[in-house]
Formats: sequence, C-alpha cells, structure tokens
Amino acid sequence: MAEKISVVVTDYIETDLDWEAAEMARRGVDFACYQLKAASEQEVAEKTRHADVVVVNMVKITPTLMDSWEKCKLVIRHGAGYDNVDVDAATERGIGVEYVPDYCMHEVAEQALALIFACVRKVAWSRKVLDDSVARGEWDFAPVIPMFRLDGATVGIIGCGRIGSLTYHKLEHFGVKFLICDPYLSDKRKAGLGIETVDLKTLLNNSDIVTLHTPLNDETRHIMNAETIAMMKPSAYLINTSRGGMVNVDDLAAALKNNTIAGAGIDVYEKEPPSPDYPLLGLDNAVLTPHLSWYSKDAEQTIREKIVQAINMFIDGTGPRMPVNPEVFQTGKDG
Ligand SMILES: NC(=O)c1ccc[n+]([C@@H]2O[C@H](COP(=O)([O-])OP(=O)(O)OC[C@H]3O[C@@H](n4cnc5c(N)ncnc54)[C@H](O)[C@@H]3O)[C@@H](O)[C@H]2O)c1
Repeated sequence: MAEKISVVVTDYIETDLDWEAAEMARRGVDFACYQLKAASEQEVAEKTRHADVVVVNMVKITPTLMDSWEKCKLVIRHGAGYDNVDVDAATERGIGVEYVPDYCMHEVAEQALALIFACVRKVAWSRKVLDDSVARGEWDFAPVIPMFRLDGATVGIIGCGRIGSLTYHKLEHFGVKFLICDPYLSDKRKAGLGIETVDLKTLLNNSDIVTLHTPLNDETRHIMNAETIAMMKPSAYLINTSRGGMVNVDDLAAALKNNTIAGAGIDVYEKEPPSPDYPLLGLDNAVLTPHLSWYSKDAEQTIREKIVQAINMFIDGTGPRMPVNPEVFQTGKDG
C-alpha cells in the first residue's frame, strides 16, 4: 500500500485547524499541526522531519531546517509574503515554495479606498475638531479646512497588479481620473484594463492622490523619498498599503510637517509594530492603521480554503497553485 502523504503545519493563527484536519482526513492525508513559533529549530526539525508538505506561518524555514527533512517537496507559506522562507535554499534543494497572495485582494483595495476617503475628508482629524468644538461650545472648523472634492480628482496608482487593478476598478465609480505607473504591465493586460501607463514623474506631478501597490524590492525600496515626495502636488495625499519599506518615513514626516504634501494614509511600517518614536505618530495629517489591510472574516476563511486547495493540487499532481520558485515545479514535471 502507498505510504500516506504527510502534511505538517508548523504554526498557525487560527483558533484551531479542525476544518483542515477533516479535509485532509477525507483525502487520506496524515495531518499534524503545531504551534512552534517560539520553539527551537531542533524541535521544529523533529516535528517536520517526515513531512511531504510543510505549511508555515511565522516559523523560519532555514537551510539547516530543510537539511533535516527526509522527503519534503513543498513548503506553503500562509500569507501574501514569504520573508521567513529561504527560497534560494529551497530551490537549491528542489523544494517547491508556494504562497497565497490572492486571499485578501479586495480587503487591501478596500483599505486603500478607506484611507483615501479618510485623508480627503479628514475623518480622524474632524473627530478632534468635533471634540474641541464640544468642549468650547461653538464650532471651529479651521484645523480641517480646506478639503477638496474627490469627484474629478486624479488618482495615481503605482503598481497595477492584483491589488492595484482592483483599487482602480473600485474607484472607477467615484468620478475620478487615473494615472497609472507600472512599467511591467503587458500590452495585453493594459488593453484588458483599458488603461495607458505613464512614467513615475508624470504620475507624481499630476495626481491628487498617490497610492502604492508594488512589491517591495531593490527597485521600489524607498521609492517615495524626499526627492519623489517633492514631485507631488502640495495638496496631494500619499497612501501606502503595500510594504513599509517603500516609503522613507523620515522624509515623509518632514514633508507632512512642512506641508510639502497635504497628508498620508499608512497601513504598513518598516518595523512592525512601529516604535513609540515613529515619526508620523501624533501628526494630524497622517492617518495610520495597524497593518490590518489583509484582514476580514472572509479573508481568514479564503486563505484556509486556498491552502487546502494547494495541498489537494499537490496530491493530485495538478499544482502548483501559486509558486514562488516555479522552476522547481517545472523540473519536477520534466524529470
Ligand atoms: N497591507 C496588507 O495587509 C497587504 C496584504 C497583501 C498584500 N500587500 C502588499 O500589496 C502589494 C501589492 O500586492 P499585489 O498582490 O497586488 O502584487 P502583484 O504582484 O499582483 O502586483 C504588483 C504590480 O506592481 C508592478 N511593479 C513592480 N515594480 C514596479 C515599479 N518599480 N513601479 C511600478 N510598478 C511596479 C508589477 O508589474 C505588478 O503589476 C505588495 O507589496 C504586497 O506585499 C499588503
């Protein structure tokens, strides 16, 4: 009889994985789940040694750990990033890596819209105005004046992939114009979206709102810095729901204090959570949320279903679902 496939979850954020266990039992899979986030690498190695598939949330997947594995062919990272998995080392060892970048696209796009509206309508700041006016017994709107109308404004989208294009579609109904910068978009994709692209400077010079939706890499790290922020209109807002490292936060803080730009809506930080001396804390023209763009009750269930789907595709030989190192899967098919 063929040996059962073994799936081991190193750590998870759900209350329990009973649903996954039942799904795996239906497929005859040997399923085990642990909470090894704080465990030693040796303990993680002991628990994962016999796994064919390792599902990981926060545990670090290092070359040493991979060397302890007897037959693992697939690591699935629970989430849209995979910083904790040494992908190069996995590729060298013929281990496929998958991730789940597509479980919270609507949520992140909706958060971008929420931050845009919060900035343009100065929602959080207006609450302070209300509280002050209540204390004084008369209105004083001065701190939040002026505001501008979103209808007719220009939204600049930097990166028009999964989330950027959804942000575009959701905003289409608000009477805004668009400038889109994404040098890697194919002509077919542009035609499908019905858009043209522009260079970064054109976008920054002419947008009332600039929203960031690219991956963080050597090209995009600190793409927003003193020089590029200065290219924005003084009345413009910067929105970042992508990765903290895309913005030089000291330069942004200086720009917000000097009114080089009007404000910023930020969900992501270079250090998470940010330190108490994070320079945007306490600035009225900065709307800050705690890296929760990804979250909704629905997204929580979607990621569970997509991970089970990825495991089933592995079992059926129809994968990979969302590969990080596609060359490994290709080799597997050819060989
Ligand atoms: N805040 C959150 O909770 C959260 C959740 C999920 C994803 N994210 C982040 O959102 C971002 C977008 O994710 P996605 O799934 O849409 O990615 P994606 O890969 O689908 O799209 C990224 C787009 O950026 C473009 N791009 C790459 N380099 C560029 C550059 N230098 N200038 C302009 N465009 C460039 C690519 O061509 C691509 O079209 C990522 O940084 C991701 O980590 C954040």
